[in-house]
Amino acid sequence: MTEPTAKHEPETSLQTGVLDDAHQQAVHPDHLIPNSARMYDYWLGGKDNYAADRQLADLFLQKIPSMREMARANRDFVTRATHYLAEQGVRQFLDIGTGIPTRPNLHETAQAIAPDTHVVYVDNDPVVLAHARALMISNEVGQVAYIAADVRKTEAMLADPELQAQLDLDRPVALMLIAVLMLIDDKDDLQGAVARLRDALPSGSYLALTHPTADFDPPVVNEVTDSARATGMTFVPRSQKEVAEFFGDWELVEPGLVPVRGWRPDGEVEDPESAWYWSGVARKP
Ligand SMILES: C[S@@+](CC[C@H](N)C(=O)[O-])C[C@H]1O[C@@H](n2cnc3c(N)ncnc32)[C@H](O)[C@@H]1O
Repeated sequence: MTEPTAKHEPETSLQTGVLDDAHQQAVHPDHLIPNSARMYDYWLGGKDNYAADRQLADLFLQKIPSMREMARANRDFVTRATHYLAEQGVRQFLDIGTGIPTRPNLHETAQAIAPDTHVVYVDNDPVVLAHARALMISNEVGQVAYIAADVRKTEAMLADPELQAQLDLDRPVALMLIAVLMLIDDKDDLQGAVARLRDALPSGSYLALTHPTADFDPPVVNEVTDSARATGMTFVPRSQKEVAEFFGDWELVEPGLVPVRGWRPDGEVEDPESAWYWSGVARKP
């Protein structure tokens, strides 16, 4: 495995001594292949990304100059939705496809409102898990767990002892599927997996979801989709109708399934359709 050199790569939070060498290697086993979590980190201004990630991320930026602002808009939704859910009394969060830690992290927002909130972060990418565990080591956060699991393998995920230790699945849980489902093909029975997760949670639970879409500019999004797929990445933008199906019969709270900037914004939003993600929060009846 070739390690990136200090000359070519920026110093990352992982090069500050938090992780030992074995962990470092686990962090970038595939740094020559673009990685969705690290591309997203790059758009958000993070330093935990490599040349291959930046190359594809820059190609997105060429076609969609406001990509960084869109990624930020998606991230801001996480904060607003978490705030909303905590205010509804939700004290358990299951965040699948959590990504490289970005401030404010979900647990920071939720625990600022209710310190007894339990949060389980799930990702299937060793890159993300290594970063997440570094955060755990450096900040002795309680009531937060990170587990390696795949959203498609719901049974294994829900049976994970760490998840079971943190979450009481007889009490309401907020299931967070934020900018993750576009990385999974329909042929992998994605709708089935999300339905199994909904079924596993009790009445009063919530699903918060964002999903990129081609609905607002099909030619440009189709072009970047082709570029992503050419690198071997699965990237599936979905229409509003397709995204609505992930909620099943759960009831969307106001304002419904809307462009991400328009979901309960903190202030006036000039052009809600300027960030190309559908977003919504629904409650299990
Ligand atoms: C674009 S990032 C989103 C990060 C975060 N949810 C946010 O929106 O700020 C997508 C994340 O989903 C993860 N992911 C992709 N496929 C997954 C799968 N099958 N199961 C679990 N996580 C997955 C990736 O590793 C990546 O960290």
